[in-house]
Amino acid sequence: MSDQKLYPVIPAIAASAHIDTDRYHEMYRRSIDDPEAFWSEQAEQFLDWERRWDSVLAHDYPRGEIQWFIGGKLNVTVNCLDRHLATRGDQIAIIWEGDDPSHHSTLTYRELHRQVCKFANVMKSQGVGKGDRVCIYLPMIAEAAVVILACARIGAIHSIVFGGFSADALRDRILDADCRFLICADESYRGGKIVHSKLNVDKAAKQCPNLRTVVVIKHTGHDIPWSNGRDVCYHEAMQSADETCEPELMDAEDPLFILYTSGSTGLPKGVLHTTGGYLLYAAMTHKYVFDYREGDVYWCTADIGWITGHSYVLYGPLCNGATTLMFEGVPTYPEPDRFWQVIDKHRGNIFYTAPTAIRALMAQGDAYVQRTGRDSLRVLGSVGEPINPEAWEWYYRVVGDQRCPVVDTWWQTETGGILITPLPGATALKPGSATLPFFGIQPAILDPEGHPLDGEAEGILVLTFPWPGQARSVYGDHQRFVDTYFSKFPGYYFAGDGARRDADGYYWITGRIDDVLNVSGHRLGTAEIESALVLHDQVAEAAVVGFPHPIKGQGIYAYVTLNVGVEGNETLKAELKNLVREEVSAIALPDAIQWSPGLPKTRSGKIMRRILRKIAANEFSDLGDTSTLADPAVVEQLVANRQHPS
Ligand code: WT7
Repeated sequence: MSDQKLYPVIPAIAASAHIDTDRYHEMYRRSIDDPEAFWSEQAEQFLDWERRWDSVLAHDYPRGEIQWFIGGKLNVTVNCLDRHLATRGDQIAIIWEGDDPSHHSTLTYRELHRQVCKFANVMKSQGVGKGDRVCIYLPMIAEAAVVILACARIGAIHSIVFGGFSADALRDRILDADCRFLICADESYRGGKIVHSKLNVDKAAKQCPNLRTVVVIKHTGHDIPWSNGRDVCYHEAMQSADETCEPELMDAEDPLFILYTSGSTGLPKGVLHTTGGYLLYAAMTHKYVFDYREGDVYWCTADIGWITGHSYVLYGPLCNGATTLMFEGVPTYPEPDRFWQVIDKHRGNIFYTAPTAIRALMAQGDAYVQRTGRDSLRVLGSVGEPINPEAWEWYYRVVGDQRCPVVDTWWQTETGGILITPLPGATALKPGSATLPFFGIQPAILDPEGHPLDGEAEGILVLTFPWPGQARSVYGDHQRFVDTYFSKFPGYYFAGDGARRDADGYYWITGRIDDVLNVSGHRLGTAEIESALVLHDQVAEAAVVGFPHPIKGQGIYAYVTLNVGVEGNETLKAELKNLVREEVSAIALPDAIQWSPGLPKTRSGKIMRRILRKIAANEFSDLGDTSTLADPAVVEQLVANRQHPS
């Protein structure tokens, strides 16, 4: 594309940034030419180690084996808390902003440290120790940071389940990681509505025989059912807990957390991240990608239930001694100016959110933005899905007043941190491009046969060399890790995305090339939604595909084949939606359900999703080759009955 817009680096930003263009190229070169020396220096600079590593890296991609800083010892909370106490004990670590605009509070580094130690002792007294899996099912409240870090303090492995997930989704995750200890809230608020967190836990717990202890944090304070002997009141337990807790000495490669994410097939995978490399990568990317400076108020709107919340609400910022803002609410409550009001209220300098939120707010018009000042802002970030140039321009022009670079950051749950991204003082921007690789990151584009393509090219995005933040395994199923990421193109990490590289070497992510959907920045597997739909006893078969959606990025379109003799109707549609809500989450509700007497299949019985995607997208003119279909007439039938998504 020669007509694409180029936004040069903003001189005022470059003048004071950590990294300018020359420095980027120089550091990038070094990170590729001598990765071990480069990462050694970074590990020394960013982290405090109890014991230095013996060797920097060992890896064998075809076997999915990756180790960084072998023999190194450290504790994550020493790096995120203890070491800051002498210099910034009274600095605010966490600003909490509630769903209700009149609710907010702050925690200093000293207070956060004290509470983390106390809760670590609560967990210890309940028998939780190093290597135990702890499930965390919490809204965006400050106590979430306390309990997450408390796990890291004692070496317990946290598994955070997004508070918007259903009881059944929670159950599956508790069982998969065999969590015996869980922390939840009584209830939470979201856009003025109540979410019944504890009720979901009670429901999930019925099918989790090993779940022994449920710690409940009072948030709304409403009455909730109580299970004596199992349930523990957070506040009571904290009152009597000791304030000193020695940090557990962890190996660099000891697990830090498990985080479930959707793939093309089967149940979500428990992606496993370890200690030293992950923390280093989160901290370093946080500093350079957002050009974080001492004293900045930094705000990432992601929920702690996603990787973005792990790396860029908590671990990265706290490791760097930043003030990080945690927001419980939604962008449009009480009004669609909430983000900008919060920025003005807390004088936010760095703001990081998802394209779906930007598009939703853009649709509300500029007036909601313009009635706020936003003069504290310096850097804007985008994450979670491709950002369309129109939304990018609006973000840059209207929200950032053309003063703030927009960093479009491409990465994944599995990558631990940002891989392809501009740096504010170094990279000229092109709306819609994630631009260039971060230090140490070596992307490549392959053709479908797995041959690397040079220069300008479009194809399959892979990474040719490890980086410290990379996931190490799938919890309890290393073979699945190997099969998913390392088998298709041996010698590479396969990300599941397509990408184009332009003449300037800039990367343009074109979206998933597998059966993973990205709905409002949430990653969902079509297989999970299909399994929920076929649970209905009147459903014979279901196929789910994504289609372009103006706000959500992708919407969900479900083709459902009913049992012979059953008539589809609105009641049945409602029942199916309810099943999806219960089995997966309200995020996964189909935007359209089409009754499909048959699905397009090859003679060997494989559903041709390509055709289903075209029909859902309303692109009938180009259905491609249908000659391999067992029954080509099915397609005409489907086209004639396409549903308009709601
Ligand atoms: C998938 C990963 C990254 C943390 C949040 C989502 C898509 C993510 C971008 C971007 C284009 C993006 C990819 C990726 N994605 N960021 N800047 N441009 N696409 O993490 O839930 O693991 O999803 O999100 O398709 O594979 P996730």
